[in-house]
Amino acid sequence: MVSKKSKADVLLGLQWGDEGKGKIVDVLTPEYDVIARFQGGPNAGHTLEFDNKKYILHTIPSGIFHDKATNLIGNGVVIDPMIFHKELNSLGLPLAELQKRLLLSRKAHLILPSHKLLDAALEHDKGDAKIGSTLKGIGPAYTDKVARTGMRLGNLLQENYRETYDALKKSHLKKIADLGFDTNGVLLDGLDFDAYEQKWFEGADVLRNFPVTDSEIFVNKSLQDGLKVLAEGAQGSLLDIDFGSYPFVTSSNTIAAGACTGLGIAPSAIGEVYGIFKAYCTRVGSGPFATELFDATGEMLRKEGNEFGSTTGRPRRCGWLDLPALKYSVMINGVTSLIMTKADVLNNFSQFEACIAYNYRGGQIDYIPFDCTPDEIEPVYKSFKGWQKSLAGAGSFDNLPTELLDYIKYIEEYTGVKVNIVSTGPDRSETLIR
Ligand code: GDP
Ligand code: IMO
Ligand code: MG
Repeated sequence: MVSKKSKADVLLGLQWGDEGKGKIVDVLTPEYDVIARFQGGPNAGHTLEFDNKKYILHTIPSGIFHDKATNLIGNGVVIDPMIFHKELNSLGLPLAELQKRLLLSRKAHLILPSHKLLDAALEHDKGDAKIGSTLKGIGPAYTDKVARTGMRLGNLLQENYRETYDALKKSHLKKIADLGFDTNGVLLDGLDFDAYEQKWFEGADVLRNFPVTDSEIFVNKSLQDGLKVLAEGAQGSLLDIDFGSYPFVTSSNTIAAGACTGLGIAPSAIGEVYGIFKAYCTRVGSGPFATELFDATGEMLRKEGNEFGSTTGRPRRCGWLDLPALKYSVMINGVTSLIMTKADVLNNFSQFEACIAYNYRGGQIDYIPFDCTPDEIEPVYKSFKGWQKSLAGAGSFDNLPTELLDYIKYIEEYTGVKVNIVSTGPDRSETLIR
């Protein structure tokens, strides 16, 4: 008998996050049975727009608005019950329906209120060297995971969960005090610590009433049964803990390999790897950004692209597409198909640029060096002619303006991978598939 067994596809960001992952996952969900987040947590903000409504997801996978898909929060994700609860309430879907659509891994780690306090204390302690963290407790929660001191969702279902919680909280408060910070009266999301803790426990009660499972068994059985699984990444490859611009990174593996560890999928069971990138670049938070624009052009990208953080509201730093960085991400992830978003943001530019190499220590290179600080690398740009018209009426991929198709062709030749989807606006409908 021929096996029905299928492979899991992965969709992830190739830049510094906010490439439009949420939008594209939502568009692709009708093709899939399972949408599974594999890493990150509420530092993510994935925006979906349809029927004149806008939703921002932080922990919940972006397939949640389709009634047939199972949305799985994998073991690699870190969950803040308070934020999870708030997010559930923002979706406009009945709780009973959400309980049918969502499934959570018993092995996912929890973000405690004291993780958030510790995140704030550690960032503050760094002074000018701060990472620009979203301050959602991500770093401290993953630190506890790796230090083998973390609290998992499975622990929350045990009778003695309060002991586990209190012991971990105590260790955090000690660290915070050691850093010289007073833990009383520190505000979190406009709440004081005690109020946050109360909301956290309310969220934990809601969380307990969701189906919690050994998600690696669920995912592998789904693949065995021939179901289609899409693993949804958070952040972007240049924020990866191993391959990003360390230390200005997040604390998880955001790359394709993260889907294996964050869901329990074997490398041999990975199928397509969809890599998303913006037609230009943005970054929020600190860290090197070779093609950043500090002038009116950067301001125009921010304005046209509405580049303000989905999670924190911070203005995003903007600049031209960085092709050596993109090629690096394609390599690390084994990208099989590229997706370009926000092409429409370049509509009003008569000319735009892309970085095709770096001047580095007297020579030219086309990869990211270890010390990729602005003092060390200088981008080499190529100019492209703009199309100066709306993409709204293009109707099909091949009907896009020639100037845009030329830009796409150049990117394909540079990276060696085809661009198969172009996004021309934030709405679900503004998507052209080749
Ligand atoms: P994610 O974190 O990768 O899911 O991306 P975010 O949601 O944080 O940021 C992407 C932003 O761009 C959101 O506000 C989207 O609504 C918007 N967006 C997505 N695709 C497009 C596009 O093709 N054109 C425009 N103009 N906006 C887009
Ligand atoms: P999505 O999934 C953009 C950035 C932060 C900071 C660094 C570390 O929406 O693409 P952390 O909170 O993880 O300690 O922050 O990473 N960052 C993101 N930037 N999009 C994201 O997620 C991000 N998640 C974290 O700004 O520079
Ligand atoms: Mg985002």
